[in-house]
Amino acid sequence: MTLRPILLAAAAIVAGGLLVQGQAGAQTSGAQTSPGASAQTTTGAPPVAGDPVKGKGVFSDNCATCHTDAKVSPDSATLSLYGVVGRKAGSNADFTYSPAMTNAGFTWTPEKLNAYIENPPSVVPNNVMYFPGLPDAGQRADLIAYLSSLK
Ligand code: HEC
Repeated sequence: MTLRPILLAAAAIVAGGLLVQGQAGAQTSGAQTSPGASAQTTTGAPPVAGDPVKGKGVFSDNCATCHTDAKVSPDSATLSLYGVVGRKAGSNADFTYSPAMTNAGFTWTPEKLNAYIENPPSVVPNNVMYFPGLPDAGQRADLIAYLSSLK
C-alpha cells in the first residue's frame, strides 16, 4: 500500500526521462544534496512575486504527473496540493507519506515551498518526492503564486 505512491513516482520519473535521478539514487544523487550545498540554495529567501496564471502552466508541466490541484484527489496515489500553503507538512489525511514527511514538523510557507521545489531533500531529507528540482526561480515564484491561490 505505501509502496504505491513510490512506484508511481518511479514510473513518472521514467516517463519524464529523468532516469538518472530515479530509484535509490534519488536521495544520494550528487553533491547538490550534501549538507554544504544548502548555502547555495535560496532557502529562506522570500520568492519574488509570481504570476499565478503562468504558475498553473508550470504546475501542469512539472507537478501534475504526481499531484492534483483539485481539492479532492482522484486516487490515493495522487497528493492534492490544494491549500498546501499554510498546511502542516505531511498532513493530508488522504495520502500515505514517507516517515520523513510525516515527521517534518513545519508548516508550508512560500519560503519553504521555494526551497523544497528547488531541491526537495535539502528541506526534507529522506522524503520520497523523486523530483530533481525546478532550477528557475521565476518559474518557482509563478508556481508558488498559483499554489497560494488555491484556497
Ligand atoms: C515524481 C512524482 C512527483 C513530482 C513530479 C512532484 N512531486 Fe511533490 N510529492 C511527491 C510525493 C511522492 C510526495 C510525498 C513525499 C513524502 O511523503 O516523502 C510529494 C510531496 C510534495 C509536497 C509536500 C506536501 C504535503 O502535503 O506536505 C509538496 C509541497 C510538493 N510535493 C510539491 C510539488 C511541486 C510544486 C511539484 C512540481 C514542481 C512536485 N511536487 C512534483 C511526488 C512528486
